[in-house]
Amino acid sequence: MDKRLESLIWQMEAGADDSVGETCLNALAPRPAKPIAVSAPVSTPTIAPTVQVSGAQISGVQAQSLEALRDELESFEGCALKQPGRRLVLADGNPKAPVMFIGEGPGEEEDQQGLPFVGPSGRLLDRMLAAIGLDRSGVYISNIVFWRPPGNRAPTDAEVAACQPFVARHIALIRPRLVVPLGGPAAKALLASGEGITRLRGKKLVYQGPEWSCPALPMFHPAYLLRQPMHKRLAWKDLLALQASLREGA
Ligand code: URA
Repeated sequence: MDKRLESLIWQMEAGADDSVGETCLNALAPRPAKPIAVSAPVSTPTIAPTVQVSGAQISGVQAQSLEALRDELESFEGCALKQPGRRLVLADGNPKAPVMFIGEGPGEEEDQQGLPFVGPSGRLLDRMLAAIGLDRSGVYISNIVFWRPPGNRAPTDAEVAACQPFVARHIALIRPRLVVPLGGPAAKALLASGEGITRLRGKKLVYQGPEWSCPALPMFHPAYLLRQPMHKRLAWKDLLALQASLREGA
């Protein structure tokens, strides 16, 4: 289906019933490129991060580039989700984009393709992006864990903790102006808040990482919206807030 038509259908399902202007604004024009690789790829052996579910972690993640991060994850054996036959699902989209979406974890199709959000949730995410004039060339997408949890269950706290130093490094390499945690588990992993996604969504919060901090706009996970389509209205509000943040420079 034509992307503009998909976008229009999404907006109507979400309750939009009027246009706000005569002309389209390209407020999402690309920002100046920021260097990602700051030195040659690390050649020393990967030091697996120490994982303690109790909290304190010593991050041994050294990657200075996205390629090095992928290599470190490929040789990392500290997450129980990494099983023979499971594919590493790192990211999709534009590493120079101002906004980084972070979901819960790969599903079946993501595991097959090695890319995040390519299954039913991803197709809805694409329609949501199209509704505010974005596509994958204007955003960057990843997850809080990098391998598919069995049976599409939510990742455990230990699995999230094992991946957390990599997620923090990933965000620090991308240096987004805005982080969008998709769903409760991503919001919990990225924001220092015990509140659920229903309370967190719609609020402009802060992602405070060890190396990079920026505003965060938590949103409902697309999988939740597929199960609870009546909440698309709230998701539409959140998308408009996201669009406004990007227009303001986030
Ligand atoms: N759900 C997620 O949270 N991430 C994906 O990559 C796919 C579905």
